[in-house]
Amino acid sequence: MSLPFNIAIDGHSSCGKSTISKAVASKYSMRYIDTGAMYRAVTLFCMENNMISNKEVKLNLLLSEIDNITINFVFNAETKLSETILNGKNVEQIIRGFKVSDNVSVVAQIQQVREKLITLQQEIGRQGNVVMDGRDIGTKVFPDAKLKLFVTADAVIRAQRRYDELNKKGEKVTFEQVLDNLTLRDDHDTTRKINPLIQADDAILINNSNLSIEKQNILIDDLITNILGK
Ligand code: DC
Repeated sequence: MSLPFNIAIDGHSSCGKSTISKAVASKYSMRYIDTGAMYRAVTLFCMENNMISNKEVKLNLLLSEIDNITINFVFNAETKLSETILNGKNVEQIIRGFKVSDNVSVVAQIQQVREKLITLQQEIGRQGNVVMDGRDIGTKVFPDAKLKLFVTADAVIRAQRRYDELNKKGEKVTFEQVLDNLTLRDDHDTTRKINPLIQADDAILINNSNLSIEKQNILIDDLITNILGK
């Protein structure tokens, strides 16, 4: 069964939004779109084209090239996951690295970048059947989404989960660096002028600090069943 409507999942960095989204997408045969990957891909584009130094973006340069940035997703049949393609190149691995994480907030606060990506996200969502995660999905991208979740967890718990993940991948980074980056990104995300991270009035809050993935899935399943029954 696939759902005729879109699901918006917003929340803080590293709170497990993508784990939830993947589980919902897989169960209901929906398309999963990770909008953070799009902001990360634009950030990588800036880094590779010398448009960013000391966390400052050369805005004129970026704007002169912004129409040349193409982002799409391909489904990897082996991993059953969607991967990010930037101008024809698979960048799925590199955009998850710490360097991109360290620069993404400054790129994500540029109005023209947000406009471009939101237009793309709304185009993808036009036919429904999409579960999309990010920071402004319930407030700006799909304000009419039937189900909106706002996910969070304690910052130290989120940093520990992210640190374990990076460690497993062999990235040389300390827990303190991860916590600092996460706190800084929370701060950027919640205080930026354009489309800050806020809980939509009609979003359901999930704090998963002490919630297992299994219990979280059951909770979300109940919410979806409830909507379908209406
Ligand atoms: O979800 P993530 O951590 O991969 O997102 C990377 C960055 O992109 C994050 O610091 C905030 C930004 N972002 C955003 O501003 N709006 C979105 N819809 C998604 C992500």
